[in-house]
Amino acid sequence: MSYQNILTEQQGKNLIITINREDKLNALNVQTLQEIKAAVIEANSNSEIKGIILTGSGQKAFAAGADIAEFVNFNQAEGSEMSQKGHEVMFSIERSAKPVIAAVNGFALGGGCELAMACHLRVASSNARFGQPEVNLGVIPGYAGTQRLIQLIGKGKATELLLTGDAIKADEALSLGLVNYVVEQNELLNKCTEILEKIAQKSPMAIAKTISCINAYFEDGTN
Ligand code: COA
Repeated sequence: MSYQNILTEQQGKNLIITINREDKLNALNVQTLQEIKAAVIEANSNSEIKGIILTGSGQKAFAAGADIAEFVNFNQAEGSEMSQKGHEVMFSIERSAKPVIAAVNGFALGGGCELAMACHLRVASSNARFGQPEVNLGVIPGYAGTQRLIQLIGKGKATELLLTGDAIKADEALSLGLVNYVVEQNELLNKCTEILEKIAQKSPMAIAKTISCINAYFEDGTN
């Protein structure tokens, strides 16, 4: 399949999906989200692919949020539809039978942070920043970031970040458990590949079922 806003590249047994809107800090418009979903679904039906890495183009941003220019004038119905579609994208990643790692190469704000949190694991570069600044715009995280942030770092700190809109640096994200590893930018894809190679040595069915069981634990919280 050909895409406008993402790049896909098979490297060994892994598919690398790169959000390719560097001039907009990889902001997630509806089309980009739909393309990510399609690429994840396609990877799941490709027996050559064992794992997926999701990253952003350039060295500044993973994704700086939902595309503000696109949704700024949405009415309530349009906002609801955007949120619903976004949920479906996040679930397509979270419920992927093949492991998905977010290689967070810079800002992961708003929808970008939500996207990273929907992945099974997160590896951040040392310049990465995480946050849910939606309250600064008078809206809420629309793709279940409120739930997933609590799941990953606990209610107390998640509530602080969600209510203040403050962003945190990679080392704090690591100490909170929001990311699994922090590495230098040029080591990001290597680290993700190393993890996926370890997982690829296991039974694919065991991996798929384990992902499904992990999701089942949180089912009520994310729906
Ligand atoms: N949606 C749409 N466009 C965005 C965007 C977003 N979420 N985040 C950044 N961009 C665009 C900017 O509009 C700018 O485009 P332009 O050059 O055509 O004007 C470009 O990306 C570069 O952003 P800029 O703000 O100039 O970079 P910066 O280094 O000064 O600041 C940020 C970086 C991330 C601090 C800043 O871009 C920002 O606060 N973005 C919004 C974050 C946010 O609120 N996300 C949640 C949305 S719900």
